[in-house]
Amino acid sequence: MERNRTCMEVATSGFIETGNIMVIPLFEGLSKSPNNATTGLGRSASIAVKSAISSEAYSGEIGESLRIWTKNCQIILLGLGKQKDLTTKISRDNGAKCFASLSKKHGTQIVIRFTTGWKVDMMAAFTEGFILRDYTFEKYQNKDQEDKGPWSLICQTIDRYQKDLNKEVIKSSSIATGVHLARDLGNEPANRLYPEEFGKRALEWAKGKKSVEVEVWDYERLRKEGMYALIEVGKGSIHKPCMVFFRLNPDKEINSEVPCIVGKGITFDSGGISIKGSAGMDEMKLDMHGSATVFGLFQALYATGHKGRINGITCMAENMPSAEAYRPGDVIDTYSGKTIEVLNTDAEGRNVLADGLWKAGELNPSYIIDLATLTGSIVVALGHEATGLFSNNQSLSQKIKKIGDEVDEISWPMPMLPAFEKQMTSSKIADVRNQGKGRWGGASQAAGFLKQFIQKRENSEGENTQIPWAHLDIAGTAGIWGGENNATVGHGATGVQVRLLHRLITQN
Ligand code: BES
Ligand code: MN
Ligand code: ZN
Repeated sequence: MERNRTCMEVATSGFIETGNIMVIPLFEGLSKSPNNATTGLGRSASIAVKSAISSEAYSGEIGESLRIWTKNCQIILLGLGKQKDLTTKISRDNGAKCFASLSKKHGTQIVIRFTTGWKVDMMAAFTEGFILRDYTFEKYQNKDQEDKGPWSLICQTIDRYQKDLNKEVIKSSSIATGVHLARDLGNEPANRLYPEEFGKRALEWAKGKKSVEVEVWDYERLRKEGMYALIEVGKGSIHKPCMVFFRLNPDKEINSEVPCIVGKGITFDSGGISIKGSAGMDEMKLDMHGSATVFGLFQALYATGHKGRINGITCMAENMPSAEAYRPGDVIDTYSGKTIEVLNTDAEGRNVLADGLWKAGELNPSYIIDLATLTGSIVVALGHEATGLFSNNQSLSQKIKKIGDEVDEISWPMPMLPAFEKQMTSSKIADVRNQGKGRWGGASQAAGFLKQFIQKRENSEGENTQIPWAHLDIAGTAGIWGGENNATVGHGATGVQVRLLHRLITQN
């Protein structure tokens, strides 16, 4: 059984306790110790802090960190650079890095002292860095360590800011339960988390929660519904595919359009008959991060008490070679009625999404967003710094871009060029083909393919137009395997786009 993830306990107060670990983030150019920095410390500790801050040796430059050891409390003076240069990203990342450097050896009570110059949004981001980084995936390690219990965190600020800051940090830690859940799912090995198991966990999660509903369509049901794109991808594995429906507040707003979020859930992508090379193939256990983000998002929305209705769909399959696997050259039927010529069984994500996206179109959505670790090409284009953002709707795309910047889950707009759609619809024997004509623009080819499965409907002007849709290619941002730089994640699944989508959905 999975234990429920809870985040570190976070509270806000004035400058009272000192904790076992006291972090004092400071700006550059201080000539003397700010008010409140030393409240509650003993005489000698106070003197040590004051003289460190005013000494020439300490400048408050970004990344500079000075530790002062006193009897009951380890004090960390952390440089944050010039106040005018501080952004939420710098603040969050430095909070995360600071947290990563802590050890429970000296106690688990952290106090962060926000003294002169700190505003609520920057304090909230700094604290969020601590919360997000407080994550490990150790369930398969037999570590012989005594459990020192969870961290607790107190954010200290002046009275005037306490209420607002408290609201923000409580929200951050609620959302983080979703981020951490998405990481847990992403980090699970493929022999432990396969389509049916994902469905089981979703059902278990929904149990006892009045505002959520989960439904799983198994292999039989998929066949009855005609979802052969999902079936074909998954039928080569002994773990059969399924589709999971997430519904938050299903009884509310039943006559209005609400968002639908769709996730690619390939629990392992071997490439199938078009098998991948062995280098780095283990990372393909993460090929279900789109579905992990959807699950994590629903947890985040639930934990923050979101009142609106929202739909989620995850397309779960394992892409394996076997005597029963689909092959290059096959033509498959999809839920939409369109046929796909399979040119490469490793371009499987787009196939499973074809059925998920068409289904999403039936749910009267205000917009559809899909998340998928879809192409190696997007990693070539954007590295690990940004998610690729494709859309048929400028206003939706702009909103996503803007929020991505705000929460530092950057989503970079890529063009939807007609030439790529043309490539993907130029099969000689089927309606669409699952691979383009060459290797150039692979991420755009994939997006051009997906667009064929977005339904049209009449808009308010009486025109027949496609439902607003955005596709997030998270192949480069879903995982940290070494070398990459991501302050808020140590290793493995990142939980990317839970925070972005949570803000997008809740901001109105
Ligand atoms: N899951 C992969 C894409 C991927 C690559 C995710 C690297 C994460 C890191 C996807 O299913 C895939 O294999 N895509 C192919 C498509 C090609 C065969 C048309 C690719 O991008 O090479
Ligand atoms: Mn693949
Ligand atoms: Zn894949």
